[in-house]
Amino acid sequence: MNDQVLLDVESLVVGYGKTEILHGVSLRIAPQELVAVVGPNGAGKSTLAKAVVGLLRPWSGSVRFRGRSIGGIAPEELVRMGIAYLPQLDNVFQTMSVRENLELAGHLQRDRRDGRIKEMYELFPDLERFARAQAQDLSGGQRQMLALARAVMLEPELLLLDEPSAGLSPALADDLFEKVQKLKELGVALLVVEQNVDRVLEIADHAYVLAAGENRFEGSGAGLLADEEIGRLYLGG
Ligand SMILES: Nc1ncnc2c1ncn2[C@@H]1O[C@H](COP(=O)(O)OP(=O)(O)O)[C@@H](O)[C@H]1O
Ligand SMILES: [Mg+2]
Repeated sequence: MNDQVLLDVESLVVGYGKTEILHGVSLRIAPQELVAVVGPNGAGKSTLAKAVVGLLRPWSGSVRFRGRSIGGIAPEELVRMGIAYLPQLDNVFQTMSVRENLELAGHLQRDRRDGRIKEMYELFPDLERFARAQAQDLSGGQRQMLALARAVMLEPELLLLDEPSAGLSPALADDLFEKVQKLKELGVALLVVEQNVDRVLEIADHAYVLAAGENRFEGSGAGLLADEEIGRLYLGG
């Protein structure tokens, strides 16, 4: 594993209103690494992702990208720095076409943008077939591929995915994880929050278990997958 650190979250405390949700969470991602964050519902996984991408300002602790503090930074600035985010919900424009969704994904110059859309069509062939269809008329799996393609359009160095396989059948989830793995092969570092624990741990280099807003365990994806006690305690296994 590359011991360089791309994303460094250190003792992060954050919440909503006056309610503290994360009580000092730490996590690291090296370039080109696939890191999974798993744990029970309500553990604070989405909150962690939101704090990394500037949607929540840390109360204390730090979020650093390539050594630079990014806690609470504007989302457009993060995109420029190379960080893209696929939110858990509302991640496509339902009444726009597939092509328009891709066009609106970034602030790329037209030539660059059109070239990038071609690359997305190669990576996600279904999207080319349905380029003129409205996002709301796609199947759940296709819509989630579109959401993923929108994030990848931005040429991220680090991509955060919040429950990308939510609501997908096992076969469609497999397709999606195949794309996620492909992105890793293309050199993108990924932080993947998932309920689909077994599937994400199979492809994760490293994984963190969060529970009740705290780090409970970390290790290799394979190690966690094999750990029956962790599975029983935190992952419903
Ligand atoms: N916008 C919000 N306002 C207030 N509380 C929230 C909000 N979003 C999430 N929470 C609370 O924060 C806790 C962690 O939620 P979340 O980060 O979504 O967990 P997970 O993604 O692990 O299921 C939960 O108790 C949830 O109710
Ligand atoms: Mg969540």
